[in-house]
Amino acid sequence: VDADGTRVFALDAQAGTTEFEPGVASDTWGFNGGHLGPTLVADRGERVRVDVTNSLDEPTTVHWHGMHLPAEMDGGPHQMVDSGAAWSPEWDIDQQAATLWYHPHPHGETEDHVARGLAGMFILHDEHERSLGLPGEYGVDDIPVIVQDSGFSADGEQESKQRGYAGGLGDELIVNGTRGPYVEVSDELVRLRVLNASTARTYAFTWSDGRPVELIATDGGLLEAPVSLDHVRLSPGERAEVLVRVTPGERLVLQSTMTPEIAGLVGPVAATNGGSDAFDVLEVRAADTLDPAAVVPAQLTTIADFDESAVATTRRFELSDSFEINGAAMDMGRIDETVTVDTLERWVVANTTQVPHSFHVHDVQFRIATIDGQAPPPELAGWKDTIFTEPETEYELLMRFEDYADTDTPYMYHCHLLWHEDQGMMGQFAVV
Ligand code: C2O
Ligand code: CU
Ligand code: CU
Repeated sequence: VDADGTRVFALDAQAGTTEFEPGVASDTWGFNGGHLGPTLVADRGERVRVDVTNSLDEPTTVHWHGMHLPAEMDGGPHQMVDSGAAWSPEWDIDQQAATLWYHPHPHGETEDHVARGLAGMFILHDEHERSLGLPGEYGVDDIPVIVQDSGFSADGEQESKQRGYAGGLGDELIVNGTRGPYVEVSDELVRLRVLNASTARTYAFTWSDGRPVELIATDGGLLEAPVSLDHVRLSPGERAEVLVRVTPGERLVLQSTMTPEIAGLVGPVAATNGGSDAFDVLEVRAADTLDPAAVVPAQLTTIADFDESAVATTRRFELSDSFEINGAAMDMGRIDETVTVDTLERWVVANTTQVPHSFHVHDVQFRIATIDGQAPPPELAGWKDTIFTEPETEYELLMRFEDYADTDTPYMYHCHLLWHEDQGMMGQFAVV
C-alpha cells in the first residue's frame, strides 16, 4: 500500500522454464516467474494499481477478467504493452467479493499467450463475505484451483495441444501449474476457488465418492444460498467456489467425469469440447486431526432481481459459424454497440450453431434472465460474466454498465474459447 492508500501490485510478463516433471525443463511464460502469476487480493473500496512490465520479446496485454473498471484500464486489445514497455492501470474496487482472474488479451494471440502460462487469480473480499465465517485463509482452507489442460511428451516436456474445433485440447491436466496435484488440509471445511483457465476445454467437476458438489459462488460472487449439484460445469473463463467437508485422514479427489447422466446434460460438449475425457483434477488429503468449522449460513446473500420493465435497450448477438457474431468478425476499428451508461440492458445471446460456445462480457457482472424462455437453474441464477452457450439455445441476459463512460475506448464481448476469440468471434462496445 503506497502513501496515498493505493494497493500496488507488480506483474512482470516474462519467458522462463518450468519443470512439470522434475529435471525436465519446458519453455513457459509467467508473471514474476516461469509459469502463471501471483494471486492478487484486494478489498472492496480499495484503490488498486498494477505496475505491469513486459519482458517478453513481443507485445501482450493484461486483462482483468470480471472486473468493473474504466475501459482504458481493462487490458483488452487496445491496451497493448510493447516488449520492454510498462503500463500502470489503476481503479477503485467497486464490486462484491468474488474470484476473478487476469490474462493477456492481444488480438489474435490470446490462446497462445494463455496456453504458455500467462494467467493468475484476482480475489476480491468484502465485509459481508467476511462476516459469514466461510473458509478464508488463503492456501490453508481457501485454495485456488486453476485448472488447465496441457500436452506432455513421454519424458514430461510440455507440448502444444491438439487443435480441434473448440481450439487446443490437451490430454492431461495441470492445476496451479502442477501435474498430479494434491493439497493437504487441516480444516474440516475447505473452500476451493475453481477457475477454468483452459483455452478450450469444458469440465464437469464431481467428487470421487459421488458426494454432491456444494456450490457457493459463481463468477461475480456469492449465490443467495449454497446449491448441491451432482456436477459443476465450467467452460473456459468461468469460476466456481465450492465448499467441501472432510473427515480426519480422508482422501478425496476432485474429478472431471462424464457419467451417462452428466453426458445427457452437457450434450455436445462431450464430442466437441473435450468434455468426455475423465481426469483426476486435485486430490484433497485431510490431516488426522482437523480444526472444526463454523456452520455455513443457509442464506449467503440477497440478490435483487433487475426490474425488467426498466430495460432501456434490447440487443441481439447471434453466434454463428465461421466464428462470427452478428455476421461479422472482430474489427479493432469498428465499435459494434454503443451503450448508455447506468441504464438497464437486455442482451439476447443466440448460439445458432451446432456446437457450444461461451460468451463473455467485459466490465460487468450480469444475470441470466432466461435460457430458451425458461428461468435459469439455481447454479446459473447468480452473478456471471461468462456463460457456456449450448448449441441452438438462446440466453437472455440483464446488465447495467455503470459509472464509466468513454466514447473513445471500447470494451469487448467475445467467445471465451480462446481460439474462436482469436479467429474474430469478438465485438466491441462503447459505454457513453
Ligand atoms: Cu477473460 Cu475478454 O476475457
Ligand atoms: Cu474479460
Ligand atoms: Cu466459440
